[in-house]
Amino acid sequence: MLGVTGSIAAYKAVELVRALTTAGADVRVVMTASAQRFVTPLTLATLSRYPVLTDESAWDARMPHLAAVHEADLLLVAPATAGRIARFAHGLADDLLSTLFLACTRPVVLAPAMDADMYRHPAVQENLARLRTWGARIVGPATGELASGVRGPGRLAEIGEIIQTVTEMLCPQRDLSSEVVLVTAGPTYEPLDPVRYLSSRASGKMGYAVAKEAAARGARTILVSGPSALSPPRGVEFIGVETAMQMRAAVLDRLAAATVIIKAAAVSDYRPAHRIESKLTKRDAPLTLELVPNPDILREVGAQKGARIVVGFAAETGELVQRARQKLVAKHLDLIVANDVTQEGAGFACETNRVVILDQDGGVEELPLLPKRQVARRILDRVVSLRQQKTGCTGQG
Ligand code: CTP
Repeated sequence: MLGVTGSIAAYKAVELVRALTTAGADVRVVMTASAQRFVTPLTLATLSRYPVLTDESAWDARMPHLAAVHEADLLLVAPATAGRIARFAHGLADDLLSTLFLACTRPVVLAPAMDADMYRHPAVQENLARLRTWGARIVGPATGELASGVRGPGRLAEIGEIIQTVTEMLCPQRDLSSEVVLVTAGPTYEPLDPVRYLSSRASGKMGYAVAKEAAARGARTILVSGPSALSPPRGVEFIGVETAMQMRAAVLDRLAAATVIIKAAAVSDYRPAHRIESKLTKRDAPLTLELVPNPDILREVGAQKGARIVVGFAAETGELVQRARQKLVAKHLDLIVANDVTQEGAGFACETNRVVILDQDGGVEELPLLPKRQVARRILDRVVSLRQQKTGCTGQG
């Protein structure tokens, strides 16, 4: 289902409908009232070979619009104006397209188009961020000359890019189907006494996103997770652990089966030296706890990696690339994903992350601030190309 809204870029919907149908899609077009001032429904009905749904179509007791949205595999809104994005982000159901957005249970892709200042306005940015947290995929906008004559971000993404996104979402890649991916996620809990523990602020979101994406791309996926509020992704073998020692045992047990290891867990580097069996009570004196180091699971995995691809993470608060490179070398990793946890949007428990991926050849790939699912995608893209390099296969044909 393609929603077309009232931006000058609505004229590009003509080309978009042609490109989608040429790619094999069955396209049902929904036009808002203002979109119809730029392009006629007749044009899009002719190209899509279906009547165009408009606000008037909603006044039909058979509710053809609901049947159409329930049949759709995906809702693409291109161009999506600032007003439309605001309506979606606030759950308004004040016209047909907004109503269909709420009724749609399938993936949603939005391709914003507007003037640069509008796009930069925090209202638009916050609305887009909110829609992303609900799972919407945002394509573009591109930067360039806009209808107003100004240069900046706000151009509708290239038709090819929109088609590629839709294709990826409808026909997900299965490029990991010959891999067994072992992912660790979450914090560990190191008990001090029966009621207290030593831990970190990790939520597990990054590791769960990697596991979800690996499973979607066809890998047999094993997720070893410390305590997390998240539900295990579907199609993933899940092993819940608490302590670093339990995580180590779970990882080493499954190491023989794994071909890719991705260690996103924030493992506690230390644990209390002595397990105190009864609750520590308050005294009027300072308390000193003795901590002993936990084994570095990643280092152990790296030392016996064989043909496996091993990816580590590095959470840093400064000298990001330098420290991450030291870890990459010391732990025999193929890749290390480093983030500066002091940066906005890149710390713990965020929906987004801004990471740098370092490889053994000295490569430093800086990714922009992205939702964690997309960061996961980019990490797995690197895993796929490493595998192709290792096996001498180009992945073509
Ligand atoms: N890691 C691990 N076992 C540990 C500690 C860390 O497997 N006991 C892994 C993490 O899962 C992560 C990577 O090592 O992939 C880096 O963790 P980090 O805490 O950033 O680095 P450390 O090597 O522990 O070094 P430091 O704490 O000194 O920065």
